[in-house]
Order: sequence, then C-alpha cells, then structure tokens
Amino acid sequence: MKTKILVTGGTGYIGSHTVVELQQAGYDVVIIDNLSNSNAAVVDGIEAITGIRPAFVEGDCTDLDTLRTLFREHPGIKGIINFAASKAVGESVQKPLLYYRNNLVTLINLLTLMPEFDVKGVVFSSSCTVYGEPDRNPIDETAPIKPATSPYGNTKQISEEIIRDYVASGAPIKSILLRYFNPVGAHPSALIGELPLGVPQNLVPYLTQAAAGIRPELTVFGDDYNTPDGSCIRDYIDVVDLAKAHVIAMERMLDGKDTEPVEVFNLGTGRGLSVLELISAFERATGVKVPHKIGPRRAGDIEKIWADPKRANEVLGWKAEADIEDTMRNAWAWQQHVTKH
Ligand code: NAD
Ligand code: UFG
Repeated sequence: MKTKILVTGGTGYIGSHTVVELQQAGYDVVIIDNLSNSNAAVVDGIEAITGIRPAFVEGDCTDLDTLRTLFREHPGIKGIINFAASKAVGESVQKPLLYYRNNLVTLINLLTLMPEFDVKGVVFSSSCTVYGEPDRNPIDETAPIKPATSPYGNTKQISEEIIRDYVASGAPIKSILLRYFNPVGAHPSALIGELPLGVPQNLVPYLTQAAAGIRPELTVFGDDYNTPDGSCIRDYIDVVDLAKAHVIAMERMLDGKDTEPVEVFNLGTGRGLSVLELISAFERATGVKVPHKIGPRRAGDIEKIWADPKRANEVLGWKAEADIEDTMRNAWAWQQHVTKH
C-alpha cells in the first residue's frame, strides 16, 4: 500500500510542486488548503502533470475540528508536510496577530493531533530568514539565529522552537526543519507555478510581469550595497529541486531508525547571485529584455546571504541541480501560461 502523506498548503507555490514529486515517488497525497493564497484549479494542474488527482480538502488548519475530521476521513496518514502559512513579510508587520494566529495555531493543531492519529513525523517549511544578516557566507545550520526582523520571520523561529520543545517533551513524533533560501521558477510543464495575488512583492514574479509588460518596469532595490555590483545577493533555488528535497526528507523521517528526532537542513544551491545578475540570467535564457531601473534600498533587506548546503548534500543525498537559466526559462513559460489563461 502507498504511504499516505498530508500536505497542508498543498495548492500553494511550493506545496503544489511537492505534491507532484510525492506522487511521482509513489506516495498517496491528501491536500488541505483554505485557498487564502491559491486556487482550486491547481489540483487540475497537478493531475495534468502526474495523471493522479490528489485528495483535496478545502479547509482551514487553524480549525482543530476540521483537521480532526480530515484525519478520520483519510485514515492512515503517516507524515505531514506543513506548508500552510501566511508569508508576506510586509503584511506581517501590519497584521502581526493574523500571522501569529495563522502560522502558529496551524502548527500547534497539527502537532496536537499527530499522536492521536499515529502520524510519525512532520516536515516543516522554515526559512533562511532565521539567520538574519549573516556574519559570513555561505551560511550553515550551526550559524546563530538572529532576532527576527518581522512577525513573519518570528513565526518561523517560534515554530522551530515549538517543534523542538514538543519533541523534547517526549511526544512520539519526528520532525525535519527545512530552511529554504529563495525558491524561484516553475514546473517545466508550465502547468503549475507561483501565483502572486496583486502586485508581486518578490523579485522573480515581478521580473516576469515586467518582462511581459504587465508592470512598466522592475525597480532594483539599491545598487550601493557592499557587493561586487552593488545589488543584494541571494541564493535562488529552483522550486522543483526544492520540492524533491521534501520527498527525500519524508523518506528519511519515516524510515530512518537512527536519525535524530529533530533535524535541520539548509536548502539552497550554495551560490549567491545579485539582483542584476539574475536579470542578466533571465535575459540570456529567454532573449527577452527586462525593463528596469535602480531605485532606493528596500527597508529591512538583507545585503547578502547564500547557503552552505553541505549537510543536505551529504546527509540527505540531495543537491540542487537546476541551471539558473533553465529555471528562468521555466519562470517565463509559466508567466506566459498565466497571461494566456
Ligand atoms: P503559498 O502562499 O503559495 O502557499 C501557502 C498555502 O497555504 C496557500 O495555498 C494558502 O492558501 C495556504 N494556507 C495559508 N494558511 C492556511 C490555513 N490556515 N489553512 C489551510 N491553508 C492555508 O506560499 P509558498 O511560497 O508555497 O510557501 C510555503 C511555505 O514555505 C510557507 O510556510 C512559507 O512561509 C515557507 N517559505 C516560503 C518561502 C518563499 O520564498 N516562497 C521561503 C521560505 C519559507
Ligand atoms: N528585489 C528587487 N526588486 C523587487 C523585488 C525584490 O530589487 O521588485 C530584490 C530585493 O531587494 C532582494 C531580492 O530582490 O535583494 C530578493 O527579494 P525577494 O523579495 O524576492 O526575497 P527576499 O530574500 O527579500 O525574501 C524572501 C521571502 C521571505 C523569506 C526570505 C528567505 O519573501 O518570505 O526570502 O527565505 F523569508
């Protein structure tokens, strides 16, 4: 029998790509999503890619009864991947309670029900934001956690602590905390991808919309940083590579007899790219010019951060493989798909 996995936030950006990889690896997937930042048609996209329609529950993870009903109606769930969260950094400063409630209550509800329904482990979506502005790069998992600069970032730090405290209390579960760097791109089929609501806050969706003429131009937030070309540096990780890491983490968590009950992995490429370098990579890959101008710095931005992914490479046996130009071509194909539909 196929192992059954619950994917919360499974119609979202990273969640949908992970559902595809889980199904292709032979897992049976149940999605719960409240569609606050995605839409139900994503389930069709997943089915079009894999030929398998995942079970989909439209529901809110902050509601314990909804989750309890889900576990009763889908018996035998062995693992959870918890993507469900609100994720806009700026909005979290305006609406902190929304972020604390949504992100933390979701996690607490899942942890509460895991022993009751014999769920063995949870993979948690954390972020490199927990490192703040690093003292040095690349950054590995032993680097200090810095005070969070937004309520959103704080929910990731607190979530990691909640999981550690719960496991330390003797709860019969395991967990893998995955600290993502900057997920970008889309599935090569162009059937699923990132669907920002309103004006995109993140670089790549803004860039592809500017290239498509939906936005007049991209603003590069600052060119006076202490970096070779003056623009900020990030570690852009292809979303399909990222999704694959979740499948490996799940396998390890459910099968690994000698693994620590809580493990943490950086998921990045190990390579830093500046904003201007990313624009050039997009233009080289697609032959399409990105109208852009240099603007002022964005408040709260980190100057430079990129991952040391050695632990994930060696312990998980996972490595980011995509070439950034292929990733940019996929992002562009997805933008064209969205523009058409
Ligand atoms: P996303 O918004 O595309 O996906 C999250 C999904 O969760 C959405 O479909 C949303 O409708 C759903 N959701 C939110 N609250 C819910 C609730 N209470 N109940 C049920 N469903 C709910 O975001 P994403 O980019 O796919 O991010 C997934 C996870 O990864 C999040 O936890 C995010 O914080 C984390 N993360 C994302 C990034 C990034 O840059 N995209 C970086 C680091 C960490
Ligand atoms: N940028 C621009 N112009 C834009 C948008 C972004 O120049 O219109 C620049 C930013 O200044 C930054 C880089 O592009 O230097 C990347 O910015 P993003 O907003 O795409 O990503 P961040 O690294 O700022 O933050 C993202 C997520 C956070 C998460 C963090 C670490 O938005 O939720 O990665 O995982 F916490």
